[in-house]
Order: sequence, then structure tokens, then C-alpha cells
Amino acid sequence: MSDEAERAAAALAAGKLVILPTETVYGLAADAANAEAVARLYEAKGRPRFNPLIAHVADLAAAERVAAFDARARALAEAFWPGPLTIVAPLKDPLRVCDLARAGLDTVAVRAPAHPLARRVLEAFGRPVVAPSANRSGRPSPTTFADAVEETGAAAAMALDGGDCPVGLESTVVTVLEDVRLLRPGAVTREDLLEVVGAVAEAEGDARRSPGRLAAHYAPDAPVRIEAISAAPGEAFIGFGDVGSGDWNLSPSGDLREAAANLFRMLREADRTRPSGIAVAPVPDRGLGEAINDRLRRAAGQVG
Ligand code: TXA
Ligand code: MG
Repeated sequence: MSDEAERAAAALAAGKLVILPTETVYGLAADAANAEAVARLYEAKGRPRFNPLIAHVADLAAAERVAAFDARARALAEAFWPGPLTIVAPLKDPLRVCDLARAGLDTVAVRAPAHPLARRVLEAFGRPVVAPSANRSGRPSPTTFADAVEETGAAAAMALDGGDCPVGLESTVVTVLEDVRLLRPGAVTREDLLEVVGAVAEAEGDARRSPGRLAAHYAPDAPVRIEAISAAPGEAFIGFGDVGSGDWNLSPSGDLREAAANLFRMLREADRTRPSGIAVAPVPDRGLGEAINDRLRRAAGQVG
């Protein structure tokens, strides 16, 4: 019997979809070069075809076969890979990551994930794998195996259980084009990026470069109210630190890493109790708090 990473690689090579754990969130994976498989992937998620996918690769050498990395992109990859950073750079090889996967753009998003099971699948497959978060479009990303299977398991030929995702938020996305621009905050924080590249520009007002950020995202079924200090009648309350002591607290000790790891799982758990709404305590905006608040504002429909 071959091991599950090899069986997953074989399923991908046969054009099938595979639920794949990463350190950030669970992904729904397909062969990046196979347009038919990628079409089924958009279909399974209900994802608009103008929203391009991330090509996952084993390492920097594999990334540079797909994308044209300059010194800044290379420095970022060396600092943060394998890990939760996605780099958007000019496309080098249009065949390795098909047109549909890039939504026709002349740039490509690449990331080398750190999760050991994802790495074994990428090494066994030997070519880029596109993997959007395994949720149906618009919903919170799954951070547990059970949530991933509930969201898109019906479309997948295979689902790999890698346990709970330790980071819990999707990767930081930066473009490295004319300037270095932060498209999506994540676990690699703005401060982390600034230590490697001198300046980081804002994505705001640059929707063309950030196609996936146009619509509301990460939303549970119940309406979400943020920066709340208590629950209204019928509302579920998700606390942080000293604010709230109810069923869910992102981190009783006020730790932002713990809060990020818990965020989507708790939103989903609270939503399952069918509350009239979900109120969430304030989370400070420093460091990882920027990414947490970005997801919360979107869940609350306050897209900036
Ligand atoms: O942590 C993650 O990044 C997870 C795991 C599974 O790796 N994946 C993920 O994929 O979050 P997805 O498809 O949910 O988000 C990809 C983001 C979208 O906002 C998309 O618009 C952006 O990356 N993106 C992809 N290609 C791009 C490009 N060429 N230019 C600008 N943005 C791009
Ligand atoms: Mg997503």
C-alpha cells in the first residue's frame, strides 16, 4: 500500500480534487496545469472565475519555475517559507499554472506551505497544486478536518486529515511588482514584512490587483456584530481576553496567535447554535490583530 500522500498525488494527477491540510486553513486542491480539474474546483466552491487561485509549491526553486522572482521576492521567500506567505509575481510559465487558475492574469500567486502533510503531497506530485480554502465561496475558511469535509467534501475524491490548522487564518498575500503591496493581512504581519523589505504599500483602492477582495467574505449565516462588549438577547458572544466569559473566548489570556487559531472554528461553532446574531469582543489592531480584524470586518459586512 502506498502512503496517503502518494495516493493524493495520484488522485491529483488523475484530475481529481483533494482536501489538503495546510498550516493556515484546509485547502481544496487540484493540479494547477489541468484546466478541467481547475474548472471543477471553481464549480465545487461556487467561486467566481475572476478570482485567481494560489499555486502551492514545495520550495523556492519550484516557485521560480512558475514566477519571475526579483531580489525582494526571493528575500521574502527565504525569510518566511515554508510558511503562511503568498507572493504574487509576474508569470513565467503559463502552462504550469493554467490560465483559468490565474483568472487570465499575467501574474501568479505562489506559496510553499509548512504543513508536513501538504509538503509530502507536493513532493510526491512534483508540480504546482492550486488550493483555495476548502469552504464554499463567501463562507469562513475551514480550520478543522470535519469543517473542511462538511464544506466541500462531496466534491473531493480524497480528504487528508492533518488535524486542526495551527495558524487558523489564510496566508498573508503580497504582490511584488512595481512595489511590495499587502493585499491580504495574515500571520506574517506587516511588521514582519517590513523587516525584510523596506516599504509595504497599501492594497486599498487597488481592486484590480486584488480581485478576491471585492466581495464580502468569511461570513457565517448569522449576522456578525464586532467590537461588542456584551451580547444582546439571542446573540452568541465570542469574547477576547477579559471581555466576555461565555461559551467562546478567542483567547482568555489575550494572546493574538491563540485568537487567530480559534477565530473561524468559533464563528462556525457559534453559528451552529442558530443565534439571532454573533457578537464579537474588540481585538487590538496590532501585529496579528490586523489580520483578525480584517476577517471580522468582512464577516460583519464592513468591507473596507
Ligand atoms: O492560506 C491560504 O492562502 C489558503 C491555503 C489553502 O493555502 N488558501 C487560500 O486561497 O486562502 P484562496 O483562494 O481562498 O485565496 C487566494 C487569494 C485570493 O484573495 C485571490 O484573489 C488572491 O489570493 N490571488 C490569487 N492570485 C492572485 C493574483 N495573481 N493577483 C492578486 N491576487 C491573487
Ligand atoms: Mg478563501
